[in-house]
Amino acid sequence: MLAAAGSAVGLGNIWKFPYITGENGGGAFVLVYLVCIALIGLPIMMTEILIGRRGRQSPINTMAELAREYHVSRAWRLLGWAGVIAGFLILSYYSVIAGWALAYVFEAGGGAFAGGDPDAIGQIFADLTGSPGTLLFWHSLFMVMTVVVVARGVRNGLERAVSFLMPALFVLLVVMVGYAIIEGDFARGLDFLFTPDIKKVFFRCEMVDGAEHCGYTMAPLLTAMGHAFFTLSLGMGAIMVYGSYLPRNASISGSALMIVAADTLVALLAGMAIFPIVFANGLEPGAGPGLIFQTLPIAFGQMPGGTLFGALFFILLTFAAWTSAISLVEPAVAYFVENQGWSRVRATLLVGVICWVVGIGTVLSFNLWSGEEFQIGGKTLFDLLDYLTANIMLPLGGLVMAIFVGWIADKSLARDELRLPEKTFRVWWVVTSIVAPIGVFIVFLNAVGLLSFVE
Ligand code: PHE
Repeated sequence: MLAAAGSAVGLGNIWKFPYITGENGGGAFVLVYLVCIALIGLPIMMTEILIGRRGRQSPINTMAELAREYHVSRAWRLLGWAGVIAGFLILSYYSVIAGWALAYVFEAGGGAFAGGDPDAIGQIFADLTGSPGTLLFWHSLFMVMTVVVVARGVRNGLERAVSFLMPALFVLLVVMVGYAIIEGDFARGLDFLFTPDIKKVFFRCEMVDGAEHCGYTMAPLLTAMGHAFFTLSLGMGAIMVYGSYLPRNASISGSALMIVAADTLVALLAGMAIFPIVFANGLEPGAGPGLIFQTLPIAFGQMPGGTLFGALFFILLTFAAWTSAISLVEPAVAYFVENQGWSRVRATLLVGVICWVVGIGTVLSFNLWSGEEFQIGGKTLFDLLDYLTANIMLPLGGLVMAIFVGWIADKSLARDELRLPEKTFRVWWVVTSIVAPIGVFIVFLNAVGLLSFVE
């Protein structure tokens, strides 16, 4: 369970949640995200854990075995394969962003933020992302860190580390929120995060051929739902792998609830730490992926002991990213070890090298390939990878899991694993097999424009 919590809590909570909330107008977006967490994320978390605990193998083999058990096509194991590919793609860019956190350990520790001048701090970030060589260096270092841990197959170490580093990260975030209350524009930050203003989120104006077009867009729905999957590590097998280690007597619903609650709390704390600083310093909430790297250092530069505190914060952020990265490669490594008879070292190295190479595309997305001529539909390669994985692959994977457990396998599968009181079980079944799949489906329809009402 701790390992799963370590997988869930990561850059998604502290880096991605604040920046996409800022880009998508705040309150109403957060509300949609929370609804997705409760109605889709939690039931699918339970579903993925229970599949894992029943199968007790790599996701590919688990799906093959469950398909055999319920006399359905072996093609269900393709779900496992899709997860392996999603994991590769996510890790390729995840490692680049984790590299930023790693670089900031040294920036903070070296006193680069002293004084907390927003312009100077913005320049530090611009210098970092503008340099392909520097980004490549930190991306490589993070990749090596990940490969080393996965290759050695540390499991006990992972849980022990999570059990004290996660509370530490939590305490640091609370201190940051304290700083935001005292020095930031806390009222405006809270208002931005928690007052739902439909128009601010779903009404957009765009310039098309020199003319302004305004209308409603449903795009933030997909972003919010995709993020619910991403932040909970759902839909690609990471949680399935950890579910396979969950003891028989542990409660799946209790574990899922704890993981979801912890993950959501960390994201909201990060938001409450960041937006008051954004508004107090006249920064843009929609600044994009650099948001936390341009705002939190202002606080570190101004607070007493900020050099040490800032370094510690980025160490813990790197660690949170690390435990998530480990879970991104587990499904693939488990498969190569089980089916191909490879050593863990060999399997991990292969995965690491592929992700490292693909990650170079993300490195370049922030500098040499950031120009319009390298974009597709206004998206850089990094944006595309993020969109394809978080908004499409993970929700699809989760949808397939829910359909498998809800409709394909015998109901006794979920009943035996969850061991809920019958009434609670029925509610769970309705939410998982009907509400969540329909929700995902409707959001997808919106995204392809079938249900959006522009102008
Ligand atoms: N949940 C992780 C985060 O929030 C990212 C992740 C996604 C990890 C999918 C594993 C699988 O940072």
